[in-house]
Amino acid sequence: MENKILVVYYSLEGNTKLIAEAVSKAVSGDILQIKPEKDINPKSKMRYLIGGKKSITKEKPELMPYDVKAEDYDVLFIGTPVWAGNFTPAIRSFFAKTNLKSKKIALFNCSGGNSGKTFENMKSELEGNDFVGEIEFKNLLKNDTEKNIEKAKKWAEDVCKKL
Ligand SMILES: Cc1cc2nc3c(=O)[nH]c(=O)nc-3n(C[C@H](O)[C@H](O)[C@H](O)COP(=O)(O)O)c2cc1C
Repeated sequence: MENKILVVYYSLEGNTKLIAEAVSKAVSGDILQIKPEKDINPKSKMRYLIGGKKSITKEKPELMPYDVKAEDYDVLFIGTPVWAGNFTPAIRSFFAKTNLKSKKIALFNCSGGNSGKTFENMKSELEGNDFVGEIEFKNLLKNDTEKNIEKAKKWAEDVCKKL
């Protein structure tokens, strides 16, 4: 039977969104954008400070409702921006309300250059799953955007070929 594929992501400023959309197209997967009910203003100069604190204190914001059941999928691509060297609070909320076990999981992140322990921390939240790929994108919207989107598509296709 064909694998059911879901791409789950959060994005404040659009970088992770671009990759998530490219990945979902490349592998014909469904897509789920996670959004906190009250999100930070992406234009706010304070966003680093506010978001960084939320990340460090491991906040789990209430999410906007969605009707996708992640547990019904075989393969999940999970993407996040890096905030304070970690994955984002919205993704933390998603992990808390989802019970993922024995899934094939591929991780992607977008950062300004230093992704810290993002993947390591995601994997420890996702224990009991099989990790099938990971990739990082740095300053995506600032340079080589098209090249990186192609890289994301190729990566996602390769991940699926090897399943
Ligand atoms: C609250 C906050 C904290 C951030 N912390 C980091 C960090 O620790 N390391 C890093 O390389 N980039 C950091 N960044 C930059 C983002 O990871 C980067 O701009 C990313 O591409 C944003 O993804 P998005 O456009 O999908 O929201 C931070 C950005 C924000 C808003």
